[in-house]
Amino acid sequence: MSGFVSFLGAGPGDPELLTLKALDRLKRADAVLFDDLASGPILGHARAGADLVAVGKRAGRPSPKQDHVNRLLVDYARQGGRVVRLKAGDGGVFGRLEEELTALREAGLPFEIVPGIPSPLAAAAAAGIPLTRRLTARRVQFVTGADTSGQLPPDLNLSALADPTACTVIFMGKRSFPALAEALIAHGLPPATPAMLAEAVGTPEQCLTRSTVAGLAAQLAQDIGTKPALIFYGPLAEGSDD
Ligand SMILES: C[S@@+](CC[C@H](N)C(=O)[O-])C[C@H]1O[C@@H](n2cnc3c(N)ncnc32)[C@H](O)[C@@H]1O
Repeated sequence: MSGFVSFLGAGPGDPELLTLKALDRLKRADAVLFDDLASGPILGHARAGADLVAVGKRAGRPSPKQDHVNRLLVDYARQGGRVVRLKAGDGGVFGRLEEELTALREAGLPFEIVPGIPSPLAAAAAAGIPLTRRLTARRVQFVTGADTSGQLPPDLNLSALADPTACTVIFMGKRSFPALAEALIAHGLPPATPAMLAEAVGTPEQCLTRSTVAGLAAQLAQDIGTKPALIFYGPLAEGSDD
């Protein structure tokens, strides 16, 4: 009998932001393959005796290749039992979900997908700001600031990213933001556009810093720190910092 894989969105890191369905699957799993950003206290909910396998990738550190993760997932599922693949936030948002689903489909193995709270939604809630605003923020766009080589993707739609009526959230973008900000300003985005750096959201290290596009670019050109972070900019509402 082959096993069954549950892809779980772990949310930003706070175990209270797990869904009840994710918690149920975690408590019953025989093996949990987890990402770096989906580790910490959430793993405390796994069944005692379950195999806990770290497969996470982190920028600038030696990390397992995606092919290796796909193979490991297929191997665990072939052994039978309940396998959980725990991904940060929601697995379908910059989570390499598609490659892993394809590997399971090709191997003829069954799976389910349990959504999680994506980190930008948790960050906006922590900062006390809505992502959309009547009249001023009609659109939300989630964008990656790094391609697989870690560089700013060369094919970004800069006109869309410089749209002053959109709330833009950049993932994995601390290193490339100074270059991106320069390009956005050249495309007409005012340098004083409100911006926010949201680091380690949903963890005890959470830090929310309000700035402007130009101010945040200058800050990140000096120091990007080590925490996972999102960059928000656009017509952001007043909110709370911490
Ligand atoms: C591979 S992507 C995964 C995104 C995830 N699937 C989600 O829905 O949030 C990793 C990037 O997501 C962002 N991220 C994930 N969790 C975060 C958190 N708790 N705080 C801040 N940023 C986070 C960072 O930009 C990080 O580099």
